[in-house]
Amino acid sequence: MNGRPFTRQFPSVETVPAIAADALVDDTGKPSRRRPPSALFVDQSGQPGGAELCLLPLAALHAAHSEVLLLSDGPFRELLEAQGVRVIVKSNAQVSAIKRAGMRLSWLRALPGMYRQILAIATRARYFDVLFLNTQKALVLGALGKPLHRSPIVWHAHDVMTRDHFGKMQLRIVRWLVRHAIDQVVANSQATADALIELTGLPASAIPVVHNGIDVDAFMHADPVEAQSLRRRFNLPENAWLAGLFGRLAPWKGQHVAIESLTRLQDVHLALVGGALFGEDDYVKELHCLAARLGVADRVHFVGTRNDVPVLMKAMDVILHTSLKPEPFGRVIIEGMAAGRPVVASGAGGVTEIVQHRMNGWLIEPGNVAALADAIETLRATPNLVQCMTDRAVHDVQQHFALDAYLQQVTHIIARARR
Ligand code: UDP
Ligand code: GLC
Repeated sequence: MNGRPFTRQFPSVETVPAIAADALVDDTGKPSRRRPPSALFVDQSGQPGGAELCLLPLAALHAAHSEVLLLSDGPFRELLEAQGVRVIVKSNAQVSAIKRAGMRLSWLRALPGMYRQILAIATRARYFDVLFLNTQKALVLGALGKPLHRSPIVWHAHDVMTRDHFGKMQLRIVRWLVRHAIDQVVANSQATADALIELTGLPASAIPVVHNGIDVDAFMHADPVEAQSLRRRFNLPENAWLAGLFGRLAPWKGQHVAIESLTRLQDVHLALVGGALFGEDDYVKELHCLAARLGVADRVHFVGTRNDVPVLMKAMDVILHTSLKPEPFGRVIIEGMAAGRPVVASGAGGVTEIVQHRMNGWLIEPGNVAALADAIETLRATPNLVQCMTDRAVHDVQQHFALDAYLQQVTHIIARARR
């Protein structure tokens, strides 16, 4: 396979000194006598998407003196509470219905609900050192209430703010808010930071990058025997070559590209792990129809949303990432790498900061079905290459995407934002 050379070195990211939540350092690097900062974390989603799973361990680390305010209820609340995090929910159906594009009318209808949520955030924020906004709607509602709460605001940017992903109006709003109401932005990748620099005109130094971190051991040491029995439990073929695509089912995540690639591959099965978290039910129907139309339905397995991703990843022979638009970061990629499975990923956005082609993974052009099929075929035929790639991948994930480093860096940013 002659994959296109997307290879790039790890970026030179601003590295923030490592600290523990209860052992802060001041800006000169000396131990700080101040107590750890308290934060009100705000997230719009009750569903555990990547941004929420990124917030989960941070909120858990700060649980003693912080709180999470959710703008929708759902299983994410239960995950937080299971970690001892205090959660309050202030939901509003009209605000939740606002989508990323074509928003004008839904914004108008949602105004009363937005006003109530702005007030709710502002009222709670007064009790904390820092208001930490984790999603787009949280950004808008938390920042608009600034005259009421006057707390320093940190925005964790998880999205690439370009026309690929967002409407013009939303980009304008974000530009204004970042310039006028946000005290500190932290980006989940250089790709996310670059888009914000372009959008807002802020200098690169104003937007530190902190890559996601994960519990690498949980993925590395997931039990392979249990993984094999999982194949049986889900009626996944025990001996066939199995490709796993993890993530919510949504058109831009490109699950259809993976289904199409099966027509070029013999005896390869595909497990789609994840559900339509944000109401993309029509897309799920389309995926089923596509598989039937292409005659590969018996090789496509819809597993649904799972909370045992590490062991399921171990059950796969290859992990696919097929996003059509630039992925802001892509937790599933570092998770697949940590599980010791070869990862084939769409080479755009934050992904190129993680994967080095043929070194620790395999990059393809987004949406290129032939390239995806070639990559899978090559990996199936070349176990030696897979071994080298996965050894390197585990090493790279341990070095660059460990949970502790991520927690320390974001904690330091929160502490710096407090007045
Ligand atoms: N995930 C999960 N259960 C599933 C499918 C996915 O817990 O059934 C997790 C996955 O392990 C990853 C996250 O959802 O941590 C998806 O994050 P990513 O950054 O890859 O994409 P996002 O959905 O945030 O765009
Ligand atoms: C967002 C992005 C995803 C990223 C996650 C965590 O959900 O879509 O790419 O990995 O946030 O930062």
